[in-house]
Amino acid sequence: MKKRILTGDTPTGKLHIGHYVGTLKNRVALQDEYEEFIILADTHALSTLSGNPRVIQGHTLSVLLANLAVGLDPEKVHFFAESLIPEIYEMAAIFSMYVSHNRALRNPTVKDEITMKGLGDRFSLGFVNYPIFQAADILCVKADLVPVGKDQEAHIEQTRELAREMNRIAGSEVFPEPEGLIGEIGKLVGTDGNPKMGKSLGNTIYLGATTDEIKEKVMSMYTDPNRIHASDPGKVEGNPVFIYLDAFKTPEDEEQIAQFKQAYTQGHVGDVEVKTYLVGVLDRFMAPIRERMEKYNNEKLLLEILHAGSKTTQGEAQKNLEEVKKIIGFVY
Ligand code: TRP
Repeated sequence: MKKRILTGDTPTGKLHIGHYVGTLKNRVALQDEYEEFIILADTHALSTLSGNPRVIQGHTLSVLLANLAVGLDPEKVHFFAESLIPEIYEMAAIFSMYVSHNRALRNPTVKDEITMKGLGDRFSLGFVNYPIFQAADILCVKADLVPVGKDQEAHIEQTRELAREMNRIAGSEVFPEPEGLIGEIGKLVGTDGNPKMGKSLGNTIYLGATTDEIKEKVMSMYTDPNRIHASDPGKVEGNPVFIYLDAFKTPEDEEQIAQFKQAYTQGHVGDVEVKTYLVGVLDRFMAPIRERMEKYNNEKLLLEILHAGSKTTQGEAQKNLEEVKKIIGFVY
């Protein structure tokens, strides 16, 4: 039997190239080796969009479309919506009894989000609880591997703790302790050099972007702030243009990029020339994504894919919820 992957996205907006390097690339690369389950975590999305919940449905379909566009095959991969699997809610309710309030508040990603979003003390109970839901997402199919971006590591640790606790009570290894798999570049800087890429920061390139959109973003990209003239020696390290070149290059680009790096540090090539090359690299990366986006951009088809995957997932979740109930002795 193949080992299992569970991962997915919170549908709060469109997916961008940062999501690609963090997790989507690994999803695509591993879809044959593993049985893959991809969650559209619409209930998670409520933790930030509860005031405007009706936008989530549209985001769910757009995030599903982006997953298909990067090359995940719906014949192999099970895509499902969290809200279509009530077993996850049940499992999360039980799990929440095994996590202390303090432990939930100590989650470093939750803490970062509270600061970054300026939530103060106005975050919901469900917001602090979302990593517990995430543990239920993962354990409801007994996943072995969870490819995610770096910010999600804390939630995998929480999941491992819950798996261990269930196993301890059961007295045997009922749940595998899932491992995280972080992308080679765990986190991509924004086009403005900000370590965080995000919609509200306007420093992203969306999956499916047109050539013109790519050009506009790249040509205004941040490079080395200390370099004023093309003849000034520039810095390659930490320079977003070179970070992006390395992230999206193909083997055919290797030689040219190595040359650019050398020339750049010697002040022999201008920003515009390197950026123009990057536009080409990103455009070649995006072309097949745009094509598949067109192919799958059909609501009926997307819903069919979502329903089929949810049915398979629910079958697994039912079995595993029964096991949790058996472990705690709720057998009536
Ligand atoms: N919290 C993840 C994110 O925002 C999305 C997610 C929900 C997830 N459930 C998951 C990722 C389970 C991995 C496994 O990116």
